[in-house]
Amino acid sequence: MSKYIIVGGNKIEGELSIQGAKNAVLPLIAATVLNSSTNIIHDIPEITDVEIMIKILESLGCTVKRENKTLIVDSSRLHNYEIPEVYVREMRSSIVFLGAMLSRFGKIKVSYPGGCEIGSRPIDLHLRALKQMGAVIEEKHGFIVCETVNLRGCEIQLDFPSVGATENIMLAAVRSRGTTVIRNAAREPEVIELGNYINAMGGRVFGAGTATIFIHGVEKLHEIEYKIIPDRIVTGTYLIAAAITGGEILLKNVVPDHLQSVVSKLRETGCIIRSDKNSIELKTPRKLNSLESIKTLPYPGFPTDMQSQMMALTTICDGTSLFIENIFESRYKHVNELIRMGANIILDGRVALVKGVKKLTGASVTARDLRGGACLLLAGLAAEGETVLENAHHIERGYDNIHKDISKVGGNIVKIQ
Ligand code: EPZ
Repeated sequence: MSKYIIVGGNKIEGELSIQGAKNAVLPLIAATVLNSSTNIIHDIPEITDVEIMIKILESLGCTVKRENKTLIVDSSRLHNYEIPEVYVREMRSSIVFLGAMLSRFGKIKVSYPGGCEIGSRPIDLHLRALKQMGAVIEEKHGFIVCETVNLRGCEIQLDFPSVGATENIMLAAVRSRGTTVIRNAAREPEVIELGNYINAMGGRVFGAGTATIFIHGVEKLHEIEYKIIPDRIVTGTYLIAAAITGGEILLKNVVPDHLQSVVSKLRETGCIIRSDKNSIELKTPRKLNSLESIKTLPYPGFPTDMQSQMMALTTICDGTSLFIENIFESRYKHVNELIRMGANIILDGRVALVKGVKKLTGASVTARDLRGGACLLLAGLAAEGETVLENAHHIERGYDNIHKDISKVGGNIVKIQ
């Protein structure tokens, strides 16, 4: 198991360019099975979640080539409908293949994804919607088998604006008969990206990014070349790397509009943030103020994927900050690890009260999930002394060589295999 050794105290100062968005590239890779043709996707991040998606495509019979940050997928010879269990267990978001495979192949067999480190992660909204569209779904022996002769367009009201369920329905509707309407759809930028990708290959998606999405089924789709949007969560994470060390940073290849809620909270702490079309710059004040409250919400609310990183910052802000995690039921696994580093946090269910302390101290800590791991890396940059961060593989699921990036801007961090 790889780990990071971090020696805190250096200011993070300098300039970085942001990787392609993990949560955009995953559904786009699933969408490559739709067109039975060539898909060229640029700005692919070098992260383990992408590696798993590539293995899934190859197990379905697609040919995949990777040239630096470009992925070339030929889905013309797709002939298998069963996704190996090992991949679904490793990455539950592979469930986004359900809709795409029903659209392309009319059948998919996949192991039940089950929960993960941040919660039970049910897929009831996905399955209910696909059944409404005409899929016959059997769940037994820990597997889900979905079959359909013809998916039909229909009106789907989501109980919750689930990102994955919205994406699965969009993918299932691309080649179905008639029009599908998704109400209470997720509005995340990654959903917009999936709509753009589908339209670029000849699909007809309207309203992605709003609460109501229309997808008109089409017969034919064609080859595509596409560049992914930058990762808004990596952008937010790097902004906090500068803020938590009293530094300043300029980030390029950024869509500032995608992280308005994060910028607004960082400004509340006193950070000075300026942005232009595709860059964002943060300068840190002498003293950081605590945050009255941080409530995680569906986009455009404050993203749950930034909750733990923002918590790291508030551990050394002057005053008390209140966190309410509304999206996942067990997304505070980083709290006990932060307490080991000297943070003062009281936890009660979905509420965490963080009382700022003068400084954190380095310790041996363990990453339990992707964003909680990023939180501990940020805390290590600010802490006095050395931090050993175990289970770095969690972080590498979503961050492309984060240790190299952080070293480029002054951080003292090395990766030990
Ligand atoms: C996506 O997960 C992201 N993952 C997550 O990012 C992100 O935290 C989440 O959206 C929320 O923004 C990818 O895009 C690959 P949801 P997803 O369906 O689609 C409940 C990261 O760190 N729900 O919007 O799984 C669910 O339990 C990851 O990059 C149901 O009840 O999230 C949760 O409470 C972590 N039934 C809430 O909805 C369902 O059928 C939000 O889940 C589906 C979801």
